[in-house]
Amino acid sequence: MTMDATSQRFLMCRPTYFAVDYAINPWMDPTAPVDAGLAVRQWERLRQVYRELGHTVEEIVPVPGLPDMVFAANGGTVIDGHAMSVQFRDPQRADEAPAYRAWFAAAGFELHDPKHVNEGEGDVLLAGDVLLAGTGFRTAHASHAQLQEVFGYPVITLQLVDPRFYHLDTALTVLDERTVAYLPEAFSPGSRAALRRLFPDAVHATAADAEVLGLNAVSDGRHVVLPEQATGLAAQLRDRGYETIGVDLSELRKAGGGPKCCTLRLRQGKASK
Ligand code: ARG
Repeated sequence: MTMDATSQRFLMCRPTYFAVDYAINPWMDPTAPVDAGLAVRQWERLRQVYRELGHTVEEIVPVPGLPDMVFAANGGTVIDGHAMSVQFRDPQRADEAPAYRAWFAAAGFELHDPKHVNEGEGDVLLAGDVLLAGTGFRTAHASHAQLQEVFGYPVITLQLVDPRFYHLDTALTVLDERTVAYLPEAFSPGSRAALRRLFPDAVHATAADAEVLGLNAVSDGRHVVLPEQATGLAAQLRDRGYETIGVDLSELRKAGGGPKCCTLRLRQGKASK
C-alpha cells in the first residue's frame, strides 16, 4: 500500500525551563531527578526529525516559571485558520494560556476563547472530518459543544477512565484520515464501543506500549514519530504500511509527555491539512 505524507506545520516550545516541580498527573514525581540539558537535546532531536520529514516547525518563546510550557499541544486547537485558546484545569499551568493566545493572535489566526476547561490538542484530535474530544480528567465535557460551534466539525465525546492516560493524546493517536490507534482500556465501555463503530480497522495498542506513552505519536499519514520504547506498537504500525521513527523523550516523560504533547498542529485550512 502506498501512503501519502502531508507536509505539516507545527508549533513547538523549547524546554528551556523544563522541570518537574509539581505533580498534576501520576507520571510526575517532584522528588525524582530530571536532566534538563538532556530534555533540551531530546527535544532538539524531535524538532530535527520533523524538519527531515519536510515539516515546518514554528517556535514560541518559553516563559520562565512555566516548566510544562514545552507541551505545546496544550496551547490550543488550531483548525482551518481558527485557533481556540485554552483554559487549564490546574493553576500551575494557567499562565501558559495567554502566552499561546498571544502567539496565535500574532500569527494571524482567528481567535476563540474557551468558556470551560479545555487543554487544547491534548484532548482534541481531528480524525478525518470528526473531532475526537476527550474528557474525564482535564477538558470539561461542556467545552465539547463549544468546539463543535467554533470549528464546525462533529464532535465525538470520549470518556477517559485511567488517570495515567489523562489526556486523549496519551491514549489515542490519529494515523491518517481513516485510521487511529488506541488503548481500549483507557476508555469507558460506551466510548470503546463508539470507537469500534467509527474505526473498525483501528490499531489496538497494548498496555505495555501505552505505558511508555507510545500512543503519544505524530503521524503525517505515512511517517509516524513515536517514543522509541514503544517497540510493539511500532511493529504493528509497520505491518500496516506506516514508516515508524522512534525518538527518545525519556526526560519529558517524567512530566507525563511524549512527542505529540510537544507538538501543536497548525492547520491552515483544508488545502494544507
Ligand atoms: N505535565 C503536563 C500536564 O500534566 C503534561 C502535559 C502533556 N501534554 C499532553 N498533550 N498530553 O499537564
